[in-house]
Amino acid sequence: MRTDTPQTIYRKDYTAPSYLVDTVELGFDLDPARTVVANRMTVRRNPASAQREIELYGEDIELVSLRLNGRTLGEGDYVIEGTLLRIPNAPEEATLEIETICVPESNTTLSGLYTSNGSFYTQCEAEGFRRITYFPDRPDVMARYTVMLRADKDKYPVLLSNGNLIDEGILPDGRRYALWEDPFKKPSYLFALVAARIVCQEEDFELADGRTALLQVWVEEGNLDKTDYAMQSLKHSIRWDEERWDLELDLDRFMIVAVGDFNMGAMENKGLNIFNTKFVLANPRVATDVDFQGIEAVVGHEYFHNWTGNRVTCRDWFQLSLKEGLTVFRDQEFSADMIGTNTGRAVTRIDQVRTLRQAQFPEDAGPMAHPVRPDSFVEINNFYTVTVYEKGAEVVRMYQTLLGRDGFRKGMDLYFERHDGQAVTCDDFRLAMADANGRDLTLFERWYSQAGTPVVQAETRWDEAARTYTLRLVQSCPPTPGQPEKLPFHIPVAVGLLGRDGRDLPLTVDGKDHGTTAVLELTEADQTFTFTNVAEQPTPSILRDFSAPVILKYGYNDAELVHLFSHDSDPVNRWEAGQRLAMSRLLKLSGQVAAAGNADPKLDVDDVFIDAMRKILADDTLDPAFREQALLLPSETMIADQLDVVDPLAIHTARQFVRAAIGTRLRGELEAQYDANQTPGEYSPDAASIGKRALKNLALAYLCAAPDDASLDLARRQFDGATNMTDRAAALSALVHARAPAAGDALQRFYDEFQGEPLVVDKWFAMQASAPTTDVNRVRDLMTHKAFTLRNPNRARSLVSTFCAGNPVGFHAPDGSGYAFWAEQVIALDALNPQVASRLARAMDRWRRYTPDLQAQMKRALQQVAGQAKLSNDVREVVSKALA
Ligand code: PHE
Ligand code: ZN
Repeated sequence: MRTDTPQTIYRKDYTAPSYLVDTVELGFDLDPARTVVANRMTVRRNPASAQREIELYGEDIELVSLRLNGRTLGEGDYVIEGTLLRIPNAPEEATLEIETICVPESNTTLSGLYTSNGSFYTQCEAEGFRRITYFPDRPDVMARYTVMLRADKDKYPVLLSNGNLIDEGILPDGRRYALWEDPFKKPSYLFALVAARIVCQEEDFELADGRTALLQVWVEEGNLDKTDYAMQSLKHSIRWDEERWDLELDLDRFMIVAVGDFNMGAMENKGLNIFNTKFVLANPRVATDVDFQGIEAVVGHEYFHNWTGNRVTCRDWFQLSLKEGLTVFRDQEFSADMIGTNTGRAVTRIDQVRTLRQAQFPEDAGPMAHPVRPDSFVEINNFYTVTVYEKGAEVVRMYQTLLGRDGFRKGMDLYFERHDGQAVTCDDFRLAMADANGRDLTLFERWYSQAGTPVVQAETRWDEAARTYTLRLVQSCPPTPGQPEKLPFHIPVAVGLLGRDGRDLPLTVDGKDHGTTAVLELTEADQTFTFTNVAEQPTPSILRDFSAPVILKYGYNDAELVHLFSHDSDPVNRWEAGQRLAMSRLLKLSGQVAAAGNADPKLDVDDVFIDAMRKILADDTLDPAFREQALLLPSETMIADQLDVVDPLAIHTARQFVRAAIGTRLRGELEAQYDANQTPGEYSPDAASIGKRALKNLALAYLCAAPDDASLDLARRQFDGATNMTDRAAALSALVHARAPAAGDALQRFYDEFQGEPLVVDKWFAMQASAPTTDVNRVRDLMTHKAFTLRNPNRARSLVSTFCAGNPVGFHAPDGSGYAFWAEQVIALDALNPQVASRLARAMDRWRRYTPDLQAQMKRALQQVAGQAKLSNDVREVVSKALA
């Protein structure tokens, strides 16, 4: 917590480290109230640096002693300024010995070494290692680590760190010790230790080259019944990396440890991944389908980091997307391959598009907009964003779209060949892709350097006489903070043309045969492409498979959209046509509600839309998973993103009206699908069953959106009879959202049954926090519940963040009470955990787009936070950028 003005760090100021570290020996005497850390490292001057001082970082630790080549350094031998410790006049090579003390039990930031439920865990990315010892804590300093852990043998029966276990036993003083050695050099952010009372599920697993690795999933004792799926996901991940990329596990042992207090999803520490319990623990009783899918994706993600992140790491934190964008892309491909079927893949792709529109497009259009590779930051923790992760993954995906799967694989191979063991940049990745394929990808760099979502405006013309069809694409990109003007992007635009019968027409461009989907390369501001031999007026299907993270504008009429929605061979664009149909209705209705004020807006939904929905719903040739996606309306956030002036209540009213209309007018079809998509027998989280449950539960939600007794009864019966959490939670949510008389009792019974399962209690809070009937008073009430605490990030998020970011009606109450609550909670959380506080702070990002009354009150709340004398860099950066 600093009170001075925070410093902005610029990418252009990068300089190589002055000293390199070859080996690090760490000794820990673990005590919650006073942990002593002994650090002995061998360092040598970096020939690539002009700087001659040793530079070490340290934060919130007490320096006990500092020795250089055996000599204790005194006051005059080094300088400490803030977090930087400098040793001038250092020799070319030296052994540094540093002893420090930290207090894990009072570390509420969950960065560095901390305790959770009485055990020790670490989190070092991005800059947490400096909270453990003084070190050149930057990712381009890679060293070999040996770690000795010593702790009370009864309280901490398990002592883990990176790499291989060399020795363990009991010390003369009765404590337990364990010695670990990591054979690979690594940056300090990948260091980890665990000293805990935990147990594991373990297995020997044979690798592709015949070696055997020991796989372990570590959890607290009562949770051994929830580790199967994580273990299975880990084995699938290892196989997939071998099969798709020829990348093998490089260690004899790979460990996953679950911890209940964790800021993020999980962390890829070398050989010792530490996970938020949310992404490990699952069984059908407590976890939903979405939870199971999240576990598979995150276990994969962290495992895949072993090559994309650990073996090849980032030169500096501006390059974060080098590892995150690439690893998200890899986990997305993994999830898609695990499903295998074409529509299954498409459904995962649709989910990705939804995430982008729900979270990344708004970020790219708001005050925190930044390029995939940012140019500056105040606090790096604020840049673990959907832009760096999800847009970064889209950028990686575009290489594959442009180069083809084989070309992309060649690029990956060259990337590893060139850079294994190095700390590199996004440019190095791009060059590997270009060189492996003999392509010039200079223009493609703009995806890394320019923020904002490009807009592609399309126009078409069919020339009957010439039998040509021209597609004109005009691109632009709105200004973002610090970037008033943009240059054209290199955009792959995948296009198909549908004939009148709904089938794909064969495509010829410039005399070249493109099959039925052409990947056009838009590189200029304004470009025209001509398809030849087009015998009929086609319907264009543009941006198939969402081939680029852009906003496509094209003047589709309803008939064309219905045609695409019924026939497009590209499932993503088929879904997209339905979203466009829905969005035009939602925007019109929102406008009507807003304009009517207190008068009756006389809303109506047309038959064209309802009939299109009916047709998809009842089409049994389509996967239930796809039908569920096709029937799901754009979210309130996505609707808001289309409007210049946002009236959250009007948007909610309009969307609810459409949901109720679907519930009423498709009642028979919804009931039929509800019955047809039951999944009797033993629960299984396979894609087909998940799809059925999703469609069935969406049908239930629509039926309850226009609640009649029969529908509410259906929900109540599903709640009572559910044999898995997916069905139970869906039924409870339907009851709560419908304000059913049975909701209160159901909530109580749910809590009583699951109060011993923290992750389910999180769901219980979140479900209430997101209900549009929940106002700030109800949230304050829930905060006094004995199960509530701000100190646990999952719990704080489940109630406070869900209300502020996931309940537009409650949060944007006209009296400003939601905003006052937000300010209060940001300030309270900031004193405990700046990272969690700062994410909550972002709920106000787009305050300038709301109606004048709301805007004024939001501004006041932002100013109240900004006016605090004591604020973390994290929150200060977010609120000052919002107000700028
Ligand atoms: N590197 C982690 C991941 O994406 C995320 C993370 C960042 C976790 C910072 C903790 C702290 O896999
Ligand atoms: Zn990651």
